Amino acid sequence: MNSRGVRRIRTGIEKLDEMLFGGIPRGDIVLLSGGPGTGKTVLATQFVYNGARLYGESGVYVTFTESAESFESDMRTLGWDLRPFIEEGKLVILDMLAPKSGMLDEVLNLILEKVEETGAERLVIDSVTAMLMSLKERVDVRTVLITLQRFLRKLGCTSILVVETPWGERKIGSGVEEFIADGIIMLEMIAEVPSMIRRIAILKMRGTKIDERFYRFEIAEGEGIVISSYPESFSKR
Ligand SMILES: Nc1ncnc2c1ncn2[C@@H]1O[C@H](COP(=O)(O)OP(=O)(O)OP(=O)(O)O)[C@@H](O)[C@H]1O
Ligand SMILES: [Mg+2]
Repeated sequence: MNSRGVRRIRTGIEKLDEMLFGGIPRGDIVLLSGGPGTGKTVLATQFVYNGARLYGESGVYVTFTESAESFESDMRTLGWDLRPFIEEGKLVILDMLAPKSGMLDEVLNLILEKVEETGAERLVIDSVTAMLMSLKERVDVRTVLITLQRFLRKLGCTSILVVETPWGERKIGSGVEEFIADGIIMLEMIAEVPSMIRRIAILKMRGTKIDERFYRFEIAEGEGIVISSYPESFSKR
């Protein structure tokens, strides 16, 4: 399923890799956007966890929204024990929740040092929205993307940057970062009375063919994101 010449990083989420025609092109920076509770953290964790567990690739998970302990214990409720991989050095959780007086350069240096030190092939920043709010200076996502792109490409690391969008909104940011990122994966939760449904779509991914249709998904214990085999019959709501 691999298109010519592109080296892929498999997410290990079978249907998502199919939608990407083999995986995320190696070295790409992908924005993962979605409202509260849509499953951003679960998907991003699956990306690094599968990397370590299935493909022997190490990963760095930077958390700005919860402590490393609570992140680890949340993931345990899903049936994922990250401990052995952390102890083996295959997975590094970088806890950035504590109050910091960070400037963008300091924060990015810290992250990039970890990536370099561990030879990580996968990086998650959860979330870039929270990261920007933690900074002393005013910086936009665009600046972060441009700076990260320069370094991460050199390191050959493939990254998922989580972006929080307000409930019910599709807008990712100021409108510029969408163009700079190599790829965008969007998660949505929609009210379909009496419950909510979740769906996923790939808005873009440079250097690869993509399946542009919406697919419903669920979050299941032991499995994480489980995407349905068939696309929704409609493409817009
Ligand atoms: N053990 C579990 N079994 C089934 N579903 C779970 C389990 N743990 C979490 N979930 C589901 O996953 C959702 C949370 O997903 P996740 O934390 O990835 O969302 P998020 O998009 O990162 O949210 P936020 O914006 O608040 O960070 C929960 O609201 C719940 O529906
Ligand atoms: Mg989250």
